[in-house]
Amino acid sequence: MKSIILLIVLGTSIIVSGQQKSQIYFDVTKPIEERVENALSLMTTEEKVALCHAQSKFSSKGVPRLGIPDVWSSDGSHGVSDEKLWDEWSSAQWTNDSCTAFPALTCLAATFNPEMSLLFGKSIGEEARYREKTILLGPGVNIYRSPLNGRNFEYMGEDPYLASRMVVPYVQGVQSCGVAACVKHFALNNQEISRGEINVSLSDRALHEIYLPAFKAAIQEGKAWSIMGAYNKFRGEHCCQSDLLLNKILKQDWKFDGVVVSDWGGVHNTDEAVNNGLDIEMGTYTNGLTTQGHFPFSSYYLANPFLKGIKEGKYDMAKLDDKARRILRLIFRTTMSANRPFGRFVSPEHSKAARKIAQEGIVLLKNENNLLPIPVGKYKKIAVIGENATRSLVVGGGSTSLKVAYEISPLQGLKDKYGKEHIVYSMGYASGPSLYGREEPSRLNADSLLNAAVEIAKTADVVFFVGGLNKNYFQDCESGDRKSLSLPFGEDKLIESIQKVNKNIVVILTSGNAVSMPWLQKIPSVVQAWYLGSEAGYALADIISGDVNPSGKLPFSIPKKLSDIGAHAFDKLCYPGDSVNVQYKEDILVGYRWLDTKKIEPLFPFGYGLSYTTFAYSKPSVDMSDLKPDGTVKVSFLLTNNGKVDGAETAQLYVSKSKSAVLRAAKELKAFKKVFLKAGECKTQTIELPISSLAFYNERKQVWEVESGSYLLLLGSSSRDIKGKVDVKVLSN
Ligand code: GLC
Repeated sequence: MKSIILLIVLGTSIIVSGQQKSQIYFDVTKPIEERVENALSLMTTEEKVALCHAQSKFSSKGVPRLGIPDVWSSDGSHGVSDEKLWDEWSSAQWTNDSCTAFPALTCLAATFNPEMSLLFGKSIGEEARYREKTILLGPGVNIYRSPLNGRNFEYMGEDPYLASRMVVPYVQGVQSCGVAACVKHFALNNQEISRGEINVSLSDRALHEIYLPAFKAAIQEGKAWSIMGAYNKFRGEHCCQSDLLLNKILKQDWKFDGVVVSDWGGVHNTDEAVNNGLDIEMGTYTNGLTTQGHFPFSSYYLANPFLKGIKEGKYDMAKLDDKARRILRLIFRTTMSANRPFGRFVSPEHSKAARKIAQEGIVLLKNENNLLPIPVGKYKKIAVIGENATRSLVVGGGSTSLKVAYEISPLQGLKDKYGKEHIVYSMGYASGPSLYGREEPSRLNADSLLNAAVEIAKTADVVFFVGGLNKNYFQDCESGDRKSLSLPFGEDKLIESIQKVNKNIVVILTSGNAVSMPWLQKIPSVVQAWYLGSEAGYALADIISGDVNPSGKLPFSIPKKLSDIGAHAFDKLCYPGDSVNVQYKEDILVGYRWLDTKKIEPLFPFGYGLSYTTFAYSKPSVDMSDLKPDGTVKVSFLLTNNGKVDGAETAQLYVSKSKSAVLRAAKELKAFKKVFLKAGECKTQTIELPISSLAFYNERKQVWEVESGSYLLLLGSSSRDIKGKVDVKVLSN
């Protein structure tokens, strides 16, 4: 036999047909890139293609022959979902996968505290690690463009700078556990109506200044190892196979070296999937979460059709190798990494983290006559009214629905805090079953629920109304948007009825979106409480009782009416589109950028949140010694806690440029700093502002550009509560 293949396995080396083929990819001391190239050189074409598509609902193949593990992913951004059946959305009914539910990401954003993001990422990363996941399918950072978007609760608000600062530590925290974060949904998935096909068009400035920054930060600063393409189209291309988004912006401009995963069912043809930057195709033949497509995985676009195209020379092997390299790199960064830490699941530390993040995210919106805090023992009879005081708010909402180890309801938390003998509960309203894809009103009689609630309110010392939205379809739920800004389920009428019999009422809203508040003038205290996860009741009771001083700030504006919001100030084509196209006509003026530029008063502004103490700001001063375009400007001021309790304040720095060659928003958030001060404490604060952050995106040149000239820096406690201004002049290059 001419060529004797002598297979001698020496340690990790194989001698094949006379040529040494070492298996150094196993050698964890070698640089990852060397391991990638070595593994790639040992793989067949079939094995490389097999890496690029699902083998089950939530996994894709590794290389069994070479001992390279499969890639297992799991939702979601605020908790590791339970195990699913092999090729189904439904639960596998395991008995060891009930997780800790962390607060939803709007709550995290409302903390305005990047340290909470790192804590969040590490905690959820440990849970994903313990569950042996390679990829955690989160965080979501799509910009809050409309208060009707069903998935805003999963994201980090309306401001690109806030979302950028909060996403980076989250990604770093998750990946410190040896699990890949998968920032999503890239990009422009800002509504759920027609999400699978809607074609988004907008200006390059709005794209780069509003909708991409959080993704760019997650990739370039957070070093995210994976990213998920969105369902929708952008400029005619599906985002999961968009040459502009994936090849040009993500991989070429941002130098992304990780893996692009499709959203589930987001891939539509082989040519574009192969050529336009997608690396792993997941969930094809489903339209996300509702249509079960029982097609063999081998028929996926990046399966046999891709293999056939490679063999026929229709697709370059280089395209396949690039995908395979990225997937191998992700595996060597996670399941085959040298020092992959161990995880933890439902640990006391995770409960502590969930409670802390929830405490710091809760926003006190109104507190007349200091009705709050209500210390334990102050009142003998406390009425708790509202379905959200007892309803599970971790179940439903779509792919972030969780099977949790426990969930402390607001009612339970309040009973633990005040003593159950002092608490009486009435449901007040009913929302109906938590279904996916459709809503079903409750069969309970609304009038009798309301009357029963009013009865207990009459004789209570104080009433805690716990309502808001929930995870039902057409509320805060994936694949559908809300139909109006109003509170659902007759809650407005219920609040009015309660208020008529008891003026001592605190309205507590659990939601991931803004709601209208027609009763606001008559209600002394209002708390925005988010979806707080497993520790919800404890965190809420900590704030209500004053054991913890609220420090959250709104990550989105709450308008007086829907048409005050930019996306709703034009026509149907602007939102939600005509089912084919949607045009972001408000352009760069999203959220407070619209309200402030158009001089529209919000109900509650972006960045707003009260405390049980008060803070005083001195006039800001500025060190202007370094105002070249690559320099920084330092803004200093004295911040004093001039109240009676310790607390935290988030000082915000906005920038305004009146004379500009281009449209500018009235103000833009460019820095913030959360400061904890004891009662009476006063400290000098310095905020550093890189001059480069003043740049606008020059569409003609396709580059970021800092205009010289004067800028007004506005120091505030919210986007509307400006405490001081200082003018700076940026020198030209
Ligand atoms: C869903 C969601 C995505 C999720 C994925 C897997 O349709 O859009 O956020 O991670 O499919 O459940």
